[in-house]
Amino acid sequence: MTRSFPENFLFGAATAAYQIEGAAFEDGRTASIWDAFARVPGAVIGAENGDVACDHYHRYPQDVALMKELGLQTYRFSTSWSRVRPDGGAVNPAGVDFYERLIDELLGADILPWLTLYHWDMPQALQEGGGWTNRDTVDRFLDYAGTMHDALGDRVNVWTTLNEPWCSSFLSYTAGEHAPGHTSVAEGLLAAHHLLLAHGSTVQELRGRDASLNLGITLNHTVADPADPQNPADVDAARRVDGQFNRWFLDPIYRGSYPADIVEDIRAVDAEAVARFEASVHDGDLETIAQRIDTQGVNYYHGDFVSGTAPAEGPVSAEPDTDRVRRSPYPSSEGIHAVERGLPRTAQNWEVQPEGLTRVLQRIWTEYAEPAGTVLSMTENGAAYDDVVVVEGDEKRVHDADRTEFLRLHLGAVLDAAEAGVDVRGYFYWSLFDNFEWAWGYDKRFGIVRVDYDTQERTLKDSGREYARIIAARAL
Ligand code: NOJ
Repeated sequence: MTRSFPENFLFGAATAAYQIEGAAFEDGRTASIWDAFARVPGAVIGAENGDVACDHYHRYPQDVALMKELGLQTYRFSTSWSRVRPDGGAVNPAGVDFYERLIDELLGADILPWLTLYHWDMPQALQEGGGWTNRDTVDRFLDYAGTMHDALGDRVNVWTTLNEPWCSSFLSYTAGEHAPGHTSVAEGLLAAHHLLLAHGSTVQELRGRDASLNLGITLNHTVADPADPQNPADVDAARRVDGQFNRWFLDPIYRGSYPADIVEDIRAVDAEAVARFEASVHDGDLETIAQRIDTQGVNYYHGDFVSGTAPAEGPVSAEPDTDRVRRSPYPSSEGIHAVERGLPRTAQNWEVQPEGLTRVLQRIWTEYAEPAGTVLSMTENGAAYDDVVVVEGDEKRVHDADRTEFLRLHLGAVLDAAEAGVDVRGYFYWSLFDNFEWAWGYDKRFGIVRVDYDTQERTLKDSGREYARIIAARAL
């Protein structure tokens, strides 16, 4: 049976500045928190970093040509704060110029630029003043957003403030897995609040400049299911994962409040952290955060199957095996255990659960987006697998049947949601290229295009060929 995608549905692929650009210290760019963190022994598997990455900074014309060959209608990328405003200070014209050239190349290829302002790479100089735990960073972010809009506002319509603020707060300041690698409950809470404030302030500012812009944020989501729905401890574990991962961001953005049950859970384990957090929420902050947005980006990779009591046998680890001391990203994590349920897994041991994607979209749509007049777009979904390059005749090929299947299943899950009434306007595969997968380094390959990091050769994988076919047919 052929299943068609709605007419207004855009097919794209996504990347992020630090993960692909390279040219880390060229043309005036200075260090970001990821340049610094990647140099901390044990922070990234193999001590790898984004100095060169996919060398996209120098190869963007060929890369855009490849996007066109694939038939992409839109390309989601991020701009590097430390390229545009090194150290968070004065504007660097050479940095702005790179994005002007990239966007002109995209527009010339008839590809809609989908711009994200923050995909985790804050200038290191700002981190030295406290980074996202410091309220002043919100103003520095507004300066940077204003610079980008001054330069690109005539050519870019879609503006995403933040990518996955859960990662740049709790995974970064509480779990210690991402830059800056801190392990403090209070810092995670402060960072999350200031990130949200930066989001709301930017929406307010850009909306004031141009009412025709399509403004939004991208959040990462999970479906948290109790291992035993009859067991109250398991049901409570699922509530806490959902609350700390999904609702901590959805509630302030759509409803102007933090989830009270989660505030109390965290207070029970760290009253001092919650007191600091509450003091950081000033009058008017929540109104600023709750600006209406046009589009919410949804990133979905896998769900969570959890118990409130330790199972006899735990599941395989889905965390990067680095040497760092880490803690749970969930402030109230006591008693939460992941449970094995026999789903297939990717090369990172992430479960493959496409029906979770349908449920995520339906839930956000009915509980949050539809009542607010916001539409949804799948801004990330994808999988890492251990690809093998084969030479056939004079051609290199990657027969990544597992990723091809993953893509088809998840596109089907998006269609299931659309057919159930969710207004979902697009799908961006993560990622266009194999790239720097944060604490996992270069070992985990997500691309539909293979990158040979020695030669920078690009090879379209079978999954990319299949995606191009689906895009051309606009159907599964
Ligand atoms: C989400 C992030 O936005 C992206 O940077 C990352 O590479 C993918 N997930 C895969 O982990």
